[in-house]
This record gives sequence, structure tokens and C-alpha cells, in this order.
Amino acid sequence: MRMVTTMKNEMFETISQRKSVRKYNLEPLKEEAMENVRELIANVKPLYPDIAYSVAITDKTKGMFNIKAPHYLIFTSEEKKGAAENIGFVGQQLDLKLSAKGYGTCWLGGSKPQDKDSSPLPPMLCMAFGESVGSPHRTHSEFKRKPLAEISSGTDERLEAARLAPSGMNQQNWFFIAENNQIHCYRKKTKLGFTAKLAAIDIGIAICHLAMVSDEFSFSAQENVPQKKGFVYVGTVG
Ligand SMILES: Cc1cc2nc3c(=O)[nH]c(=O)nc-3n(C[C@H](O)[C@H](O)[C@H](O)COP(=O)(O)O)c2cc1C
Repeated sequence: MRMVTTMKNEMFETISQRKSVRKYNLEPLKEEAMENVRELIANVKPLYPDIAYSVAITDKTKGMFNIKAPHYLIFTSEEKKGAAENIGFVGQQLDLKLSAKGYGTCWLGGSKPQDKDSSPLPPMLCMAFGESVGSPHRTHSEFKRKPLAEISSGTDERLEAARLAPSGMNQQNWFFIAENNQIHCYRKKTKLGFTAKLAAIDIGIAICHLAMVSDEFSFSAQENVPQKKGFVYVGTVG
């Protein structure tokens, strides 16, 4: 079984204490803190480098299930196969890094910027962030998630990091098959529309968690992988 190193354990600690924060101190963060956030944005890695995307910061969003926060990240992307998975992967790096710095965050799947932002790409979704009212963290035992046996087969220490990933409406519409030190990743087949978009973003988020606890992360679509009924194969984490 693959072992997770000490450095990766620090990432696991961040993963196992994060939570969605829905109550914020509406005071804007200081300029130095915002500079820090811009630096985090500049350093994220995409899952698919050939898909154009952008991450911008705004203080106003609108949409279904929107929440009040001092700041929001706006994720835009070119419309292409893998775009939603890519944004999930990119955004979750920011979610974890902001959480590790003690800020609150919350993905907002139905939110859009209130004003037209400067990106020529269409907005996909947003993420609230700022200083949380109350702790931005929780303990591992407070997570409400499906058991590993329901969302995976095979054995790999990294699967727990995927299990703890956030998902739209906590649907956890994913499946993982661990074999030969690799993890095949699947998202639930859903009808077109909002739920399909969420399922694709969600698997990108879970793949980000796997990347964070992998000593050497690789991701590729392989031939001859096992099929999982009711699910679509997305790719394999090495
Ligand atoms: C893609 C995505 C979209 C989400 N959209 C919303 C939203 O619009 N409003 C909201 O309050 N929470 C939203 N959430 C947060 C989820 O409800 C939350 O992640 C899930 O219930 C698990 O809880 P946790 O993040 O505290 O672990 C979203 C999460 C994801 C991953």
C-alpha cells in the first residue's frame, strides 16, 4: 500500500479540518492579505493545461444559494471538455490554501459576479472567502460523508483525502477504484444541466485532494480501465 509522507500529512491535516463557512465578518481583508491571495491564485496548477481559465476577485455576486462575504473568487473558463473538472481542481487548491491560512471559504455553484468582470471567458461559479465568524475549522469526526466502502473499492491510504472532499449539496457523486498504486476516478452519470456540472466540478475537487496527498502526482486518461455502472471514467491518478 502506498504511504503518505510527513509533508503530505500536513496537507492531510488541512483537508481533515476544513469546512464550508457561511458566516463572515464583512470587513474587507487588509491589502497585505489580499496580495497574499493574489499570489496564491498566480501559483495554482491546472488539471488540464490546455484549457483557458481565469480566477478574479470581486466583492459582489448574485445567484441561487448565494451567501454574504467580503470577497469572492470568480472562476471563468473556456467551454471545453474537462473545463468543469479543471475549475474544481484549481479552485480546491485555493480553498485548501485559504483554509490553511485560517480564512473561511465556501464554493457557490449557482453564483455569478454581479458586475460584468473583465474576463472574456464565461463565468462558471464563485467561492466566498474572508474572515469567518467562529472557527473556519472542525475535527475529522465532524465530517458528514459516505463511508469509503460506498464510494470506493481497493486500498490506498489517499482515498480518505478524496472522501473528505466537499461537493455540491454534499452529493459525493464520485467513485474511486484503487489498484496497483493508482486510483481510477469516476463521476456519476447525471442528466445534463446543473447537476452534471456540479458532478464534474466535484470530481475535479476530489482529484485535487488526491493530488495534495500524493508524493508524485500524475493524472491521465487510460485505456482498458475497469468500468463502473452508472459512472463516467474521468482519469487515473498515479
Ligand atoms: C461545486 C460546489 C458548489 C457549492 N455551492 C454552494 C452554494 O451555492 N451555497 C452554499 O451554501 N454551499 C455550496 N457548496 C458547499 C457544499 O454544500 C458543501 O461543500 C457540502 O455540503 C459539504 O460540506 P463541507 O464543505 O462543510 O464539508 C458548494 C460546494 C461545491 C463543491
